[in-house]
Amino acid sequence: MASISMNNIVKRYGDGFPAVNDVSVEVADGEFMILVGPSGCGKSTLLRMIVGLEDITSGDMLIGERRVNDLAPRDRNLAMVFQNYALYPHLTVFENIAFPLRLAGASHDEVDTKVREAAQTLELTEHLDRKPGNLSGGQRQRVAMGRAIVRDADAFLFDEPLSNLDAKLRGQMRTEISRLQKRLGITTVYVTHDQTEAMTLGDRVAVLKRGELQQLATPRELYDNPGNLFVAGFIGSPPMNFLPGEVEGDQLKLPFGSVTLPEEKAAAAAGKGLLIAGIRPEHFAEAGSGDRGEDAGNTFQARIDVVEWLGNETYAYVPFEAPPEVQAQLTQLEKDLDGETIRTQLIITLEGGSTVQEGDEATVWVDAARFHLFDPETGDNLTVDPEHAGRILGRD
Ligand SMILES: Nc1ncnc2c1ncn2[C@@H]1O[C@H](COP(=O)(O)OP(=O)(O)OP(=O)(O)O)[C@@H](O)[C@H]1O
Ligand SMILES: [Mg+2]
Repeated sequence: MASISMNNIVKRYGDGFPAVNDVSVEVADGEFMILVGPSGCGKSTLLRMIVGLEDITSGDMLIGERRVNDLAPRDRNLAMVFQNYALYPHLTVFENIAFPLRLAGASHDEVDTKVREAAQTLELTEHLDRKPGNLSGGQRQRVAMGRAIVRDADAFLFDEPLSNLDAKLRGQMRTEISRLQKRLGITTVYVTHDQTEAMTLGDRVAVLKRGELQQLATPRELYDNPGNLFVAGFIGSPPMNFLPGEVEGDQLKLPFGSVTLPEEKAAAAAGKGLLIAGIRPEHFAEAGSGDRGEDAGNTFQARIDVVEWLGNETYAYVPFEAPPEVQAQLTQLEKDLDGETIRTQLIITLEGGSTVQEGDEATVWVDAARFHLFDPETGDNLTVDPEHAGRILGRD
């Protein structure tokens, strides 16, 4: 096993456009690192440069202490699991897993021992004689991982391995990959555009946008302390709400009223004029529900436009108006997020037991300590806690 260091990595394809632009990420030995971002942000390119399938334009790629920029893929001792698994249809599961060992000229006994060990770990023992065509998507995935395991590779690299699976299987495989990685303790770099996979699998997550690293942090840090609008909008589901806001003293003035901010947040945004205020749907509640509601300072009246009841929770929508400065930044954010719609309406998560109806005027409580305030020009989060935000673009 080994660490992987990407130092100031740049990749320019033929037309000179930097698909990866000065990215530095250090993956510790045994760490599960996620590369996440919208389509075209350069995550596959970065992964392919680690494995050696793509030349590095500039920067240093290190595996352990060794600079590998000029090493052929087979000399890097990494195992890549592709989206389509790349299994051999005419070979049995056993032979598919054994393939890299046979290629390396391993003895009959070694092949047998290692394949059976891997099959045991992956719960494939009873399928060893079958062909990939007769396996489920999840089983095929495991065969592909088995092939990676038997090689004693220094690291596993995954490029969107679950994107071909249906939602249920994807959930199962996600848990399985997580369990396996922890058990094997193998350094792993995993590419996905799915923020749920990023949050659930990663020890740390590198968020990329148009070839640039936006933030490198733990899932919790990304959720609690997104460094900028892009990360804030990308991480979390349903996504964070963005509203026009202005700070006066300790008051944050919003389209539907004012809330009292904690001192340090108010101070960070004092005198900055019109800002973008971000607040996650789950940091609202219906006043009087649960143990909330006593905090009368941070409740407001909301006209509920649409209600979506999901059983375990309810989404309530509250429309609002945004001035042009804020609207422009939100439109840009929408483009950055791959066309995901940032609506000029609040999404509020209420309890599943809520009886709120469409058209109701509800008293809504908000946890004002969870507000983030963003500079509308730069998108920077002015209220970030740098101690708990990992590394943020433009701040290191
Ligand atoms: N061989 C190539 N020649 C020229 N440009 C390329 C080549 N491969 C990728 N690109 C460009 O580099 C950028 C990054 O591509 P990459 O495949 O790394 O994105 P990605 O983040 O993996 O996206 P996706 O989620 O769609 O797989 C894109 O703008 C893409 O068009
Ligand atoms: Mg890709």
